[in-house]
Amino acid sequence: MVRINMKQCIKLGFLCLLLFSGIYILVFVSTTFLSLHESGNASSSFVKTRYINESTHSTNVECVDSFTPKQMYPLLGLGTGGFSDEAAYDATMKALRLGYRLIDTSLSYKNERGIGRAIRDSNVPRDEIFILTKCCSTACSMSAQAIYSQLNDSLGRLGLDYVDGYLIHLPGEMGRSSQKLKSNLHNTEFVYKTCSQKWPDYARTNKERRIQSWLALEALKQEKRVKIIGVSNFKVKHLVDIIDVASSPPIINQIEWHPGFHDDELREFCSRHDIAIFAYSSLRRGKQAHNKSLRKIGAQYGVGDSEVSLRWAMQQGISVIPRTSNEKHLRLNIVASQFNLSSNDMKTICKLQESEKNCRYCSGFAEVD
Ligand SMILES: NC(=O)c1ccc[n+]([C@@H]2O[C@H](COP(=O)([O-])OP(=O)(O)OC[C@H]3O[C@@H](n4cnc5c(N)ncnc54)[C@H](OP(=O)(O)O)[C@@H]3O)[C@@H](O)[C@H]2O)c1
Repeated sequence: MVRINMKQCIKLGFLCLLLFSGIYILVFVSTTFLSLHESGNASSSFVKTRYINESTHSTNVECVDSFTPKQMYPLLGLGTGGFSDEAAYDATMKALRLGYRLIDTSLSYKNERGIGRAIRDSNVPRDEIFILTKCCSTACSMSAQAIYSQLNDSLGRLGLDYVDGYLIHLPGEMGRSSQKLKSNLHNTEFVYKTCSQKWPDYARTNKERRIQSWLALEALKQEKRVKIIGVSNFKVKHLVDIIDVASSPPIINQIEWHPGFHDDELREFCSRHDIAIFAYSSLRRGKQAHNKSLRKIGAQYGVGDSEVSLRWAMQQGISVIPRTSNEKHLRLNIVASQFNLSSNDMKTICKLQESEKNCRYCSGFAEVD
């Protein structure tokens, strides 16, 4: 039997204490690191302070730590296209809880009621949330009269008296159904006849409709029912029509933008005219996961390909609005705000654009006259 005296006993006790506290510190540090790394930082203040200034969006990402709703908007938001009222409620509640402060919707998504309810139930102060909705996404909806009616509908469904961002969803009539983007583009007589019966101020050409719609948005801004006005799916030629007549040019152009599809000429034009790009389908509608190159780049930073895609856009000063109600994905998308891609990796990703097979609407909008 081994005998130990009091001195040895104290030494042994001290050593055990050291050993246990070492193990405790090790476990604590690694679990904290892992949970931050895997789930994203759920602190609301983090996401809340990732804003980008209108005047600096065109160069590199420049985040500032203050929130002035008139001039700033978040770089990361929640997309809700395709969600029902219930799903949009659930996703918006989770997102707001995690610190998201930009929610993207449209009258055409038919989920504004759910989003409005989530805003109220979340108890997040209204002026901290940037609500972006859109008009003019259906046939016949590009006229001043139609836009007033659409904004009233949106505000009613959201239960709000203003929205932060209001966008014209499309540059012009795309045919009787958006499913038939290409086939019905030139069916202008049919569209005109049908729509002018509903809205007497309905204009004959897409260009006239764009201008009329833009002037209506300017009037709504004057009335303080919308704060920032912009467009979506506009190509350079469509933007030129607006800029020619606008007293306040578009602040936002929301377009498809992901490593597989990016219109660099449009981006350059937007930069020159201080128009911020908001990217949609930035995860290629969930098809990003199969991209080996993005996965390989992500591995260097300890992130997945989705985070790389989002980061790549954000690092160009482009806001992203990935759609998910999955809490793990909501957290992972926050991780995209928390690392920087090297300029070499940024360039490599830019070169991943292959062909039109990777885009959703492809040249459909370019064909709108
Ligand atoms: N202005 C326009 O014309 C226009 C057009 C299209 C879309 N939008 C807007 O842009 C938003 C986003 O675009 P989108 O809905 O086309 O598609 P998206 O955001 O590119 O992709 C959505 C898909 O990505 C998955 N996802 C999200 N986060 C992920 C993550 N961290 N890891 C892996 N998968 C992830 C989601 O799956 P889970 O559900 O499993 O998370 C979902 O299937 C829309 O919701 C809408 O608000 C605007």
